Amino acid sequence: MAIKLSNRTKLIKPSPTLSITAKAAQMKTEGINVINFGVGEPDFDTPEYIKKAAHEAIEANFTRYTANPGIIELRKAICDKLERDNGLIYAPKDILVSPGAKASILNVLTAVCDVNDQVLMATPYWVSYPYQALLANAEPVYVFTREENGYKIEADILARVIKDSPCAKVLILNSPNNPTGSVYSRQELEEIAQVCVDNNILVISDEIYERLIYDDLEHISIASLGAEIKEHTVVINGVSKAYAMTGWRLGYAAGPSHIISAAGRVQGHYTSCVNSITQKACVAALNDEDESIETMRKEFWRRRDFIYDTLIKIPHLTCKKPQGAFYVMPNIEWYLQNNKAGIQDAYQFCDQLLEKHHVALVAGGAFGQTRTVRFSYANSMDNIIEGVRRFTQFLEEIKA
Ligand SMILES: Cc1ncc(COP(=O)(O)O)c(C=O)c1O
Repeated sequence: MAIKLSNRTKLIKPSPTLSITAKAAQMKTEGINVINFGVGEPDFDTPEYIKKAAHEAIEANFTRYTANPGIIELRKAICDKLERDNGLIYAPKDILVSPGAKASILNVLTAVCDVNDQVLMATPYWVSYPYQALLANAEPVYVFTREENGYKIEADILARVIKDSPCAKVLILNSPNNPTGSVYSRQELEEIAQVCVDNNILVISDEIYERLIYDDLEHISIASLGAEIKEHTVVINGVSKAYAMTGWRLGYAAGPSHIISAAGRVQGHYTSCVNSITQKACVAALNDEDESIETMRKEFWRRRDFIYDTLIKIPHLTCKKPQGAFYVMPNIEWYLQNNKAGIQDAYQFCDQLLEKHHVALVAGGAFGQTRTVRFSYANSMDNIIEGVRRFTQFLEEIKA
């Protein structure tokens, strides 16, 4: 007889963004010219200065376990970065380095959540947040957002959700945002901070897309808005997106000592330290940054301009202008209601688009937003031009 899985595991579904990427990759191996807007990672190579530091670490035999929370040199580099870029003062003991920001969030949730605690998040949300709450034995609770407001959490709506959620303990906030590309303003963050402090809610502030921000906007960390909110916040960041280092696996959490220390104890029994060579490479990434990082940001900005300007010209499609990350999330509701292809939801829309025009998008349902699709423009300009052309042609074909 097959061994029964745990009840908790039965709630966990595979990541829809990874599944679409796998499907597109399979079609590519069959020789099909697929344009993949599903992936959430920079299409650039890791900059040379970072790779050099990794080579040096190997040559120096820096290949053993390190301290569980990360080497002191790296935690100091992270403290310097947080002070320099965000005006935040932390000591190395307030920093936990983990194998990716994904692991950082899960370690913190595990450290703070008890059974029945509630973890609040916006819809649309990043695909992993609800499952991470469930893995930490907590309950995900969704905060409704409005398209007109870029799907950002509004303080009064948040306050109402907290009132109706007796075990609300954590809010996960993500700016710049995946999947919408929205960026929260200082005022929006101040209002959310006030609600969280008043209700003793911990903010997990996922700032992984901090460096990918356009229109000369400033990224603001909610933790920097005052002493009280800093005590109520764990900042999450990492190197995957800004430094094109997704495969190296390194993220970090910065926050109140007792939470970081507990999250470190969790990590000590899950994964232990991040691989030693990656840690050395990240010291270089943060301390010796060269112009390649800014070059990547400018290229994402150029692509954002093109894709947004093209999408908003499509009839019956609405789209908020993304200001950060590398995603854009148009609303295709009109086409879901007025098509002759028998398409009833965004999943079927994406399936047909992939089959007929070989363009991979992620259906908004994956993020809890059923009327939309998500493009990742971490793709070459040529592919973006051709992919959006095919998308537009598909909409024209199915239109009733
Ligand atoms: C919003 C958000 N947070 C966290 C992560 C995880 O990043 P990492 O590669 O550091 O685990 C991602 C990756 O896609 C993301 O989109």
